[in-house]
Amino acid sequence: MKTNDRVCVLGMGFIGLTLAATLAEAGVKVLGVDVSADVINALKRKKCYFFEPGIEELLTKHAGRNLKFDVRLKDKSCNYYIICVGTPIDPVSHKPKLEYIQNAARSIFPYIEKGDTVILRSTVPMGTSRTLIMRMIEDGTGLKAGKDFSFGFVPERTVEGNALYEQKNIPQIIGAFDKKSDKKIAKIFSAFNGKLIYVPDIEHAELCKIIDNTYRDVVFSYANQMAMICEELGLDFNMVRHACNTEYDRNGIPAPSPGVGGACLTKDPYILIDLCNKLNINTELIKAAREINKAAVFHLAKKILNRLSALGKNVCSSKIFIMGVAFKGDPETSDTRFSTTIDLINYLKPFCSRLYCYDGIVPREEIEVNGVKSCSIRDGFVHADAVVIMNVHKSHRDLDVRKLAEKANRPLIFIDCWGLYDKQSIEAGGDIIYSSVGLY
Ligand SMILES: NC(=O)c1ccc[n+]([C@@H]2O[C@H](COP(=O)([O-])OP(=O)(O)OC[C@H]3O[C@@H](n4cnc5c(N)ncnc54)[C@H](O)[C@@H]3O)[C@@H](O)[C@H]2O)c1
Repeated sequence: MKTNDRVCVLGMGFIGLTLAATLAEAGVKVLGVDVSADVINALKRKKCYFFEPGIEELLTKHAGRNLKFDVRLKDKSCNYYIICVGTPIDPVSHKPKLEYIQNAARSIFPYIEKGDTVILRSTVPMGTSRTLIMRMIEDGTGLKAGKDFSFGFVPERTVEGNALYEQKNIPQIIGAFDKKSDKKIAKIFSAFNGKLIYVPDIEHAELCKIIDNTYRDVVFSYANQMAMICEELGLDFNMVRHACNTEYDRNGIPAPSPGVGGACLTKDPYILIDLCNKLNINTELIKAAREINKAAVFHLAKKILNRLSALGKNVCSSKIFIMGVAFKGDPETSDTRFSTTIDLINYLKPFCSRLYCYDGIVPREEIEVNGVKSCSIRDGFVHADAVVIMNVHKSHRDLDVRKLAEKANRPLIFIDCWGLYDKQSIEAGGDIIYSSVGLY
């Protein structure tokens, strides 16, 4: 695509970098800005600090050419500014922390000119783009939204591990300040994606993102609660689920999980709750879903400890081997933020001194920071008393579990949280006890 536009993407994290690289691949000139000198120096060397398939190839192709990096803006050459910095929540109050987007907005004040466009892409509480960020820019620059600059919100909905594909192939939802802003935003996103969905205003687009993620958290919590009920009743939830879902299109009960992790689903429902609290709107369902999903991993930890004790094993000296530290396995990612494996480790640590972990992607040092030992799958099984599969990474599939377990202690507790293996085959020798989420 031939264009004179120059886009500044603020925040070179999971989201900003994949967007910047996608724009560069589409022929747009991009400046990636991040306040972290370490991040910028690595990117200048064409190295990415997280795992994302295809990203280093795009860096090799475009970095230093139409994809430049810097720790700050230095001139007025950009005419688009896309804010992609983090919007975490406070770990105690669960209230959204907006200072990163405020700082990013402030950093563009000296550079923004008449005719430019500002787009917020970070996930925010409804109302933030217009009443906080847009107003800040107006107050800080003297420019007026609509008259002098275009403004809007375009939520980021890609999945880590397949983000480069999804940037181009899933619809981009555009909520703009006015018609002119709609057109300006569409121009830059249509450089790489032909599927644009227009919603009436900024607030609709903000809410789309939050509603997406809250929906997923709520639906997963349903499966997780049903799984806990089935365990208590001595039934197999996955059998119930498959029977219910088969050739019955009205259903789509998802798989249960050892909790719901990751930086988005653990946070975005709280952003909605916070907004509703201010407006006195009932959020019981959303709150309950979060609590159920948090409890799922606690329930798993209790199950591991109870089973070890019931078998007469000394819990403290038992070896527990956990596979999968990233918050999900498919698509694979190196992201361990809010991984339920880390919650599991923290629950088990006071009781058990021999915790070992394997991950197909996460570097050893990042695993060991959690106070566990990192090891291979083969070594993890050696003298293990319990083996737990926490995510569906491809390296956890198609293993000869019975062979690997030959060197494990007997009986071995094998907790296959995602049902990757057949219970009967695993238990065939009578020396391995199989369990899953939704199956005691
Ligand atoms: N990670 C995901 O899969 C995902 C998916 C959808 C939406 N989101 C949303 O996208 C936003 C970004 O998420 P992320 O995972 O990419 O965050 P991240 O924490 O990986 O990256 C944020 C980056 O912004 C940088 N930064 C902070 N303040 C800055 C500033 N003033 N100027 C320039 N850079 C600054 C940080 O150094 C960091 O590198 C969040 O609002 C998140 O909720 C994330």
